[in-house]
Amino acid sequence: MNATVTLADVVRLLAENEGEARRGLSMVPSENAMSGISKLPMLLDPYHRYFFNESDHPDRWHFRGAQKLRDLEMNLTVPLLRELGRAEHVSVRPLSGLSAMTLVLAALGGENGSTVVTIAPENGGHFATPSVARRLGLEVEFLRGTGPHELDLDHAAELVARVRPSLVYVDQSHCLFPIDVASLVTTVRAASPGTLVHVDASHWFGLVLGGAFRNPLDEGADSVSGSTHKTFPGPQKAVVLTRDAGIDQRVRDTQDYLISSHHFASTIGLGIALLEFRDCGGAEYARAVVAHTRRFGRLLDERGITVAAKERGYSAGHQLWLDTEADGIAPKVASDRLFAAGLRVNFMAGLPGFPGQGVRIGLNEPTYQGLAGDDLVELADVFAAAVHDTSPSEDLAGRIAALRLRTRFGAAVGSTSPLLENALALCADALRTNPLVSRSAQVIAS
Ligand SMILES: Cc1ncc(COP(=O)(O)O)c(C=O)c1O
Repeated sequence: MNATVTLADVVRLLAENEGEARRGLSMVPSENAMSGISKLPMLLDPYHRYFFNESDHPDRWHFRGAQKLRDLEMNLTVPLLRELGRAEHVSVRPLSGLSAMTLVLAALGGENGSTVVTIAPENGGHFATPSVARRLGLEVEFLRGTGPHELDLDHAAELVARVRPSLVYVDQSHCLFPIDVASLVTTVRAASPGTLVHVDASHWFGLVLGGAFRNPLDEGADSVSGSTHKTFPGPQKAVVLTRDAGIDQRVRDTQDYLISSHHFASTIGLGIALLEFRDCGGAEYARAVVAHTRRFGRLLDERGITVAAKERGYSAGHQLWLDTEADGIAPKVASDRLFAAGLRVNFMAGLPGFPGQGVRIGLNEPTYQGLAGDDLVELADVFAAAVHDTSPSEDLAGRIAALRLRTRFGAAVGSTSPLLENALALCADALRTNPLVSRSAQVIAS
């Protein structure tokens, strides 16, 4: 089939989508936004470059395009991850949480035929972990729960003693409450001293770096990984952290064969996002995410929406699960109504404790976008009206757009800071400077 989309269509669609994204609000817990400055490297030359020479060895600049910017990865991104993640060693090579999972299972999962223990999907383990492990030649056994939100440590002790796994890969994904990593580590060490414990904190990573959640390394885990774009407001990437030089070496020995370009510009963007996070309120943001999530659970409950885990305060993190099916509204229908009102949410099967589908939301991006105080009451009013279909969707979408406008800030800074003016000029220039772009600009204009 021939392409039917023209260059002019592309620009128009992107602009329209941008307008909608700015008027609406994403409440998808596995996504977040990030600042314009942290996106800047992706518009510029480093986006096209490979970077391999971490040690800056003069004989190893086989790819020279990153040479001048090496320090942005090695003296910005890496030290900030060490500092905020309280780790000695850092890999910034993974492209996403799934890429970090593949890397860690390949590096630490052991020889072909070794066993990896991971969290059962019905207890919130990530759907891909068993499949990735098996594709790497590993056997898989599951940690199970006493309920949808807690692990059965007696079962863990018995299982680990019996199968002596190379690795326990803790992969909470559909998760309202973090497991007690310290107790799990103690259990594993007692049952099988040689077994490593890795915590994949992809969903929680911003809460860990912001100090709202305990750092799994402080709890005794051997290593931790996380996506940098879910609760952490950064680029779509992931990282692996450890305090153990031997584990770091195993990761390094493996990563070159699984990841070539690690997306150098995103890695620089991650450094900028980490700097902003450390110096411009990351810890407050992380605490606010948790407080907003619990409060929003109560606000929705008060408005007649069935929210999971009410007896435990709805959530200890950023996710809430809504059983709209129990309220007589199919989750897809609820999601469609919310979408028409400018709110993006997940509808999905597989949420622990849900017999069918449910609606999954997160308060991470609304918090990053600046919603606080009474904004949450207004958001809950609009949310419930959309789900129950009690107001016209255009009115609700207008209220969400007003909410977004109220929380936007920073416009005044751009005109007063030469450095920001410079950044904006770089962005504009990046759109113009290439001959192909000039030609495509003519096509778009015609
Ligand atoms: C525990 C865990 N690992 C890996 C992933 C995959 O992360 P990504 O989407 O960044 O590849 C997720 C995503 O939800 C996750 O929760």
